Amino acid sequence: MTERVALIAGNWKMNLDHQQAIALVQKLAWSLKDAAHDYSTAEVVVFPPFTDLRSVQTLIEADKFEIKLGAQDLSKFDSGAYTGEISGDFLKKLNVKQVLIGHSERRTYHNESDELVQAKTAAAFRHGIVPVICVGETLEELETQGASAVPVRQTLAALAGHEKLGEFVIAYEPVWAIGTGKVATAEEAAMVCGKIREAIAKEHGDAIAQSTRILYGGSVKAANVAGFLRSPEVDGVLVGGASLDAEEFSGIARFQKHLAI
Ligand code: PGA
Repeated sequence: MTERVALIAGNWKMNLDHQQAIALVQKLAWSLKDAAHDYSTAEVVVFPPFTDLRSVQTLIEADKFEIKLGAQDLSKFDSGAYTGEISGDFLKKLNVKQVLIGHSERRTYHNESDELVQAKTAAAFRHGIVPVICVGETLEELETQGASAVPVRQTLAALAGHEKLGEFVIAYEPVWAIGTGKVATAEEAAMVCGKIREAIAKEHGDAIAQSTRILYGGSVKAANVAGFLRSPEVDGVLVGGASLDAEEFSGIARFQKHLAI
């Protein structure tokens, strides 16, 4: 790890209604409180479904939890006749701090292209929400192009053409490791995160590359998180399945306890 503050992000995907969401965030906050979690060294952000956001926001603000709120997607448009879309403006009003963009499930099931990911990144910048841009290769791409080609290309495409880059986060998630139980080795994850940072430095300068957090995601659990975060190249984790269990996710957020071992 470096001076970049670790980011522990929980992507709930299409799980938990607003009542279940409240129960999970409450449990998570209590578990982290019991463990005297230091949020200044490891930021904790949850990404519930849209219909949960208002309830979770209300809970976080009423109980003064330090857990932050994220969303799983946003529209490239700001308002108007776009049925089913959610504007960054609405998310900002709910105090959403970060938004996932281009998750591989959206690229696969909703045909999201690099161009759309770029446009959504621009929308996040416009609304002052930090985009968490997800990149990663499929097994076939890994075999034909190697580990870093696709994630580097997707990163540069998302960052291209903006007048000015706001704060952003990159989440490297090999598609073959998502929800499969197959995990990249800590060395593989560190290597690809390093290549992504190098590419950002080359294209956008060293200052931006050094201040950007690059996460690993794909079958992360409390038992394997420390391996990834031991590398100075990996600044946090994007967690799917294991973020639905308060104790497990709290264990992931407390990864620093395992680092010394
Ligand atoms: P997983 O999902 O932790 O269940 O593999 C990660 C993700 O898709 O963000």
